[in-house]
Amino acid sequence: MFDLVKAFPDPAWLEEMRKKLDAKMRFGVEKAREVSWMPYTTEKGQWKKNSIGWWTNGFWPASMWQMFRMTGDELYREEALRAERMLDEALENFKDLSHDVGFMWLIHSGVRYRLEKNQDSYDRTLKAAYILASRFNPNGFIRAWNGEGREGWAIVDCMMNLPLLYWASEMTGDPRFRQIAMIHADTTMKHFVRSDGSCNHIVIFDPENGAFLDNPGGQGFATGSSWSRGQSWALYGFVLSFLHTGKTEYLDTAKRIAHYFIAQISDDWMPRCDFRQPQQPVIRDNVAGNVAACGLLELSRAVSELEGRFYFESAVKILRSQEKDAANWALDDPAIFTKCTSAYHDLPGRHITMNYGDYFFIEAVNKLSGDPLLFWDPARCERT
Ligand code: GLY
Repeated sequence: MFDLVKAFPDPAWLEEMRKKLDAKMRFGVEKAREVSWMPYTTEKGQWKKNSIGWWTNGFWPASMWQMFRMTGDELYREEALRAERMLDEALENFKDLSHDVGFMWLIHSGVRYRLEKNQDSYDRTLKAAYILASRFNPNGFIRAWNGEGREGWAIVDCMMNLPLLYWASEMTGDPRFRQIAMIHADTTMKHFVRSDGSCNHIVIFDPENGAFLDNPGGQGFATGSSWSRGQSWALYGFVLSFLHTGKTEYLDTAKRIAHYFIAQISDDWMPRCDFRQPQQPVIRDNVAGNVAACGLLELSRAVSELEGRFYFESAVKILRSQEKDAANWALDDPAIFTKCTSAYHDLPGRHITMNYGDYFFIEAVNKLSGDPLLFWDPARCERT
């Protein structure tokens, strides 16, 4: 297996990142305790008000567990537990939840169960898996969002929620969760990933018979464009589906998406919001870069040692370029990455902070530092 720690060329940079992350995230916790909502984005140096059901809310406690793994400091564990309890309100209100329950529970409650065997955390994660499984349409896809008229909508981001279903099969011995995940991943290969490795964000199916109806541009520029965060969800998501199932088509698909992604960013190693957006203005998305970097690091370990270096070096270039260009380490704002973009056509949502961009940077630093725990596979994946 490709050794990330041995291959990393600049341990001093990594040490500097760990120190800066500790200072910044400590400040983030202080700020989070001043408000009664979960961190997502910031405004005037404060965590902006946010609803408890918002799909990104698992990234805060997951960041806390990553920081606990990095530092061993009890402050982060306590904050993770506080956030986990806050999220119970969202789980109780289960009818309002979407397919994003993987993001919302696997990477903290699932991780806590892995580390501490806490029964409540196990129950929360399994409930989330039941909710996700219940969104499966037997025509071959998982329904993404709620609301009348969206019964047949599926989105590429869902690839990152599938690890929750793999986890549920591992834990319960019931193969149905894994089967649903694999049917959805197969549909994603067929209808979302194009032959050049770019992806659709949304595909609308007829919910009665599964016929393909449409593929709107979603959070990207337009139909037929290439929303970079969607590409990064697909890249990392297919690597994870391969790690959970061993199905080589998933690995080959991840490679195809990775080659496309790397070709699109190799000019400056910082993804634009959409790889097919107009040349001007230059709209970036740091989240896409950090998610893709995590996917590429896992990909480097999933392929032969000879192949691994290409993916590894691309990941490192993305992380270092984005950090240099857009990381704010000052204690004037609790968020780190400043050029995250919610959607191409959401003008106030361009070049804002979005805490899941920060989460994936922390995850990448822990991977490069040799932490063997993969948060997206907490049932069994302690790699050495
Ligand atoms: N899953 C929605 C997003 O990435 O913004």
